[in-house]
Amino acid sequence: MTLETFIQQRLPLEPVPGVPEIRLHRAGPSSGLTRLADADPDFGSPYWARPWGGGLALARHVLDRPEIVAGQRVLDLGAGSGLVAIAAALAGAEEVRAVDIDPYAVTAARLNAAANGVTIVAEQADLLDGDPPNIDLMLAGDLFYDPDLATRAEAFLRRCVAAGIAVLIGDPFRAPLPTERLAAVAEYPVADFGDPDGAARAAAVFKLI
Ligand SMILES: C[S@@+](CC[C@H](N)C(=O)[O-])C[C@H]1O[C@@H](n2cnc3c(N)ncnc32)[C@H](O)[C@@H]1O
Repeated sequence: MTLETFIQQRLPLEPVPGVPEIRLHRAGPSSGLTRLADADPDFGSPYWARPWGGGLALARHVLDRPEIVAGQRVLDLGAGSGLVAIAAALAGAEEVRAVDIDPYAVTAARLNAAANGVTIVAEQADLLDGDPPNIDLMLAGDLFYDPDLATRAEAFLRRCVAAGIAVLIGDPFRAPLPTERLAAVAEYPVADFGDPDGAARAAAVFKLI
């Protein structure tokens, strides 16, 4: 079975809690992700199989305020399922790239975009040590979950701001997030990764200034 077939058959398309405009292939108890892990020593963590709190807040934000993305060239950094990229495309972005280091995430984002009837370019890459890309707006949903990654991500995103790119970060106040150096612009109740769908913990959208 190909990865595409596995995702389509074993991760049902379900509405996203708090973002009902979007449906994602979401893992459940019977999805059998361990079968993928057992078959691939490079499998990693299946972050792409569920929406995360930071992405939920950011997706809600751009759908509620489409003027933020309308006509813009947008990049979703650490795209996972592609949730934020799909929200940006639905809200009228001119071009949307979804970038993740995990090849499983790239496949999931492509399938999820197609399921929602939007066009995005999903790419496997680690941009964090390179130059800012040629875009207008960078969206980073829940990328500050690990201290070393947070340090690299902040340095890269600051180079992006210096290059004239607007940067928005969605995050449920995880410990590595440098909140003291960010400006909160909105807060949303979200069901984070691992929470039941009806849960409502706080997640915010921050502007990097
Ligand atoms: C916590 S998940 C969030 C996924 C999605 N944005 C959301 O909010 O639902 C973080 C994602 O960042 C990706 N990631 C980690 N390091 C990365 C890097 N250097 N460049 C791009 N993506 C990265 C992981 O593979 C994972 O898919």
